[in-house]
Amino acid sequence: MSATQKQKAAERAADDVSSGMKLGIGTGSTAEFFVKALGQKVRDGLDVVGVPTSERTRELAEQEGIRLSTLDALGTLDLTVDGADEIGPELALIKGGGGALLREKIVAAASDRMIVIADESKTVDVLGQFPLPIEVNPFGLGATRVAIEAVLKGMVLPAQLELRGGDDHPFVTDGGHYILDAHLQAIPDPSGLAEKLVAIPGVVEHGLFISLASKAYVATADSVITLEK
Ligand code: A5P
Repeated sequence: MSATQKQKAAERAADDVSSGMKLGIGTGSTAEFFVKALGQKVRDGLDVVGVPTSERTRELAEQEGIRLSTLDALGTLDLTVDGADEIGPELALIKGGGGALLREKIVAAASDRMIVIADESKTVDVLGQFPLPIEVNPFGLGATRVAIEAVLKGMVLPAQLELRGGDDHPFVTDGGHYILDAHLQAIPDPSGLAEKLVAIPGVVEHGLFISLASKAYVATADSVITLEK
């Protein structure tokens, strides 16, 4: 993991932004570099409006002087730029390590295009080494956990779920939900798992982003590689 690489990928994505764009602005340490690069461009005269994917990003974007709006006001967006925890084949992603996956997915789905920014440590052949975040409603947590475990067992995956933050002080998302991190090691069928997870009533969303990203800028030690679907 390299901060310099994250910054390089973020700056490359900022170069894809042009005046007049409605932007989705991601969350996480790589996305923070994007917000800073975008802030500099705004101060240099770039005219864009952004929708942040978390309260954390909102604060930073405001400090950077980036004009912000909402999906309610804008409806759709031109481009979302966001980080990822893993980038797999076909640009399928695991996201949500920072806990912002629900807003990140809503914003990405409302955008014409999504560009992922990352350092090279994030690319994988098979998703799942990074624990899959599953955002759940606090109501009925026990029953939802049992239902998720049943889905995982049915797909011959390890049913090892961890409530983020622990039972005494669970992490609460911007939407007021909890996160169960699923330690799966490998997800051979991300689409199949995604379909089964969203069918569970207590599951609000999950961190599998499939068919949302169209491009990724991945920074290596000496260059930024472009991955496209
Ligand atoms: C936030 O919820 C996540 O989806 C982040 O985009 C992801 O965790 C990547 O974060 P970093 O850029 O900090 O690695």
